[in-house]
Amino acid sequence: MTALSVALVNLKPGTGKTTSAVWLAHVFAEAGHTVLLVDADPSGSALEWADLAAMNPGLPLQAAFPFRIVALPSRNLHRRVPEIALTDDVVIIDAPQLEDHEGIARSAMRYVDEILIPCAPSPIEINRTTPVRDEITEVEELRDRPGRSAVLLNRCVARANSTANARAVLEDLGYGVLRTAVPRLEVYAQSFGMPIPDAGRDVWRRVAQDLIERPVPRGPVPS
Ligand SMILES: Nc1ncnc2c1ncn2[C@@H]1O[C@H](COP(=O)(O)OP(=O)(O)OP(=O)(O)O)[C@@H](O)[C@H]1O
Ligand SMILES: [Mg+2]
Repeated sequence: MTALSVALVNLKPGTGKTTSAVWLAHVFAEAGHTVLLVDADPSGSALEWADLAAMNPGLPLQAAFPFRIVALPSRNLHRRVPEIALTDDVVIIDAPQLEDHEGIARSAMRYVDEILIPCAPSPIEINRTTPVRDEITEVEELRDRPGRSAVLLNRCVARANSTANARAVLEDLGYGVLRTAVPRLEVYAQSFGMPIPDAGRDVWRRVAQDLIERPVPRGPVPS
């Protein structure tokens, strides 16, 4: 059994799946977990990020991304990941956008303990979570154990009402919403291809803590 498995899933590209997966993998590793980051997106951006970060002069290969990372854009992810994940691993899956790669994303959703939907606090992104929720309901029937799912509010503007409003709307819709909301910050926007800096980790440490503290198991999100 792995310690925890989480897939970053959303309908559309550009919602922060890869950024969230990579930062989360780092803070879990920093906390002493063995981490397996699975790049399930055929575009391979998490793996590319790791490769670029490792080219940073003066850093040994393992120092930039101090955990295992594999590219596995497979519709059979739910069978392949258990073959490579070690006992007590924290498995983080960067899933591709559902609208273009439904088979892969569904397979990731079928495998993980927690489906995490990164969503900006804007009406358009909240609206687009509906197809994700429908998929979660469908996938639930294929799973061998109950799964959990939650929205991760990200790209939030500091001191704006939109974050609290979005949380209220999402909770009314029946979603679990992680307590920690990730702000929209340059340190995240500029982080692709670089080793993860210390600045900006605190928020992700709290997100990781939220994930660890989530009750197990939960049923599907009500439709
Ligand atoms: N919290 C944040 N603050 C600021 N910028 C962010 C944040 N999260 C993500 N971004 C930026 O938003 C853009 C999209 O993020 P990212 O590439 O992680 O999304 P994605 O869902 O993985 O996209 P794709 O489906 O294309 O793989 C990137 O430019 C990234 O730097
Ligand atoms: Mg991505």
